[in-house]
Amino acid sequence: MSALFKISEHPIAALCLAVGVLSCAKFVLKAANVLLQTFVLPGTSLKKYGAGKGAWAVVTGASEGIGKEFSLQLAKKGFNVLVSARNAAALDALVAEIESSSPPNNKVQAKAVVMDFSSLEDAEKWRAFAAALEGLDIGVLVNNVGKSHTAPVYFAEAADQEVEDILRINVNANVRVTKFILPRMVERRRGLILNMGSFSGTGIPSPMLATYAGTKAFLSAFTASLAAEVKDKGVDVQCLNTYFVVSNMSKIRRANITTPTPKDYVRSVLNKIGLSCGALWTGRPNVSTPYWSHAIIDYAMNLVGWKMLFIRYTHSLHKSIRKRYLRKLEREAKKQ
Ligand SMILES: NC(=O)c1ccc[n+]([C@@H]2O[C@H](COP(=O)([O-])OP(=O)(O)OC[C@H]3O[C@@H](n4cnc5c(N)ncnc54)[C@H](OP(=O)(O)O)[C@@H]3O)[C@@H](O)[C@H]2O)c1
Repeated sequence: MSALFKISEHPIAALCLAVGVLSCAKFVLKAANVLLQTFVLPGTSLKKYGAGKGAWAVVTGASEGIGKEFSLQLAKKGFNVLVSARNAAALDALVAEIESSSPPNNKVQAKAVVMDFSSLEDAEKWRAFAAALEGLDIGVLVNNVGKSHTAPVYFAEAADQEVEDILRINVNANVRVTKFILPRMVERRRGLILNMGSFSGTGIPSPMLATYAGTKAFLSAFTASLAAEVKDKGVDVQCLNTYFVVSNMSKIRRANITTPTPKDYVRSVLNKIGLSCGALWTGRPNVSTPYWSHAIIDYAMNLVGWKMLFIRYTHSLHKSIRKRYLRKLEREAKKQ
């Protein structure tokens, strides 16, 4: 009591104490909310977007990995599903799996549209894609299709075609598909759009994946701007801030504490719709980091706030991945 009394006699000390107390309160409030959203609160029910009422979910890049898992889990939640990618056989198998595994009292339909999202000039294919969407009551769009560099590479040395394809698929195709679908969601005043972001574009800049990171940063800004436009029209738009997930793209074959399987990852997304989880109050509107360990990493990185530290770490990680990749290529070349 007497110490407090003395502090009150010293305005600068009192100010420092007040700032300290406020900072601690802010830290506790934020940490508590991040934990609450990540581990306790349920997200918005998918019924809001037409689950179980005949609505469709459209998933791009659906033949494998995260996109395939979105398709399966959205079907289980009661959506008819339109899946799209290049591999026709994989899509047909997915359609059969969705239709055969849906319960008789809750039958869902599925259809496949074979599509190369890098072929922006193929007007006929895009017309066919638009025609397949015609007349469907689309409740959910998952802009999942994405391409990364084959291996981390300095931008100056990256293959021109690879850079071009990353831009085409991650930016142009996602925007084009959204342009087809969003107006009808607005008309129906109901919809959910999930854009597949990445830590590299939404969290920490990523040396040696510059083009990929740039396209994911585009998706984050696109999401936030679009979300504000359509918020009062019944359409929710979210960018998923994703760290590593087991897949062909990540080249990680086994799950670990920070790298979930697509199944666990997608389950966390669908359970946390509308919540920011690890991205809460980080100045990134409509970004969500729903998977629990990704949420903690995202939260901790923002708490530390020293971006250069993480950029340096990512750069050295990518240099070593590149070295290993080149050594592998050399070994394969020798075998031939
Ligand atoms: N895995 C991760 O660690 C991670 C981390 C952050 C963000 N992400 C993002 O998550 C999304 C899915 O990635 P993933 O890890 O599931 O990758 P994945 O396993 O490699 O699957 C990619 C999917 O996209 C399709 N695809 C690729 N190029 C295409 C094209 N030109 N036209 C049509 N479809 C195409 C592929 O099917 P076809 O070959 O049949 O066309 C496949 O279905 C991507 O946007 C990625 O950037 C992933």
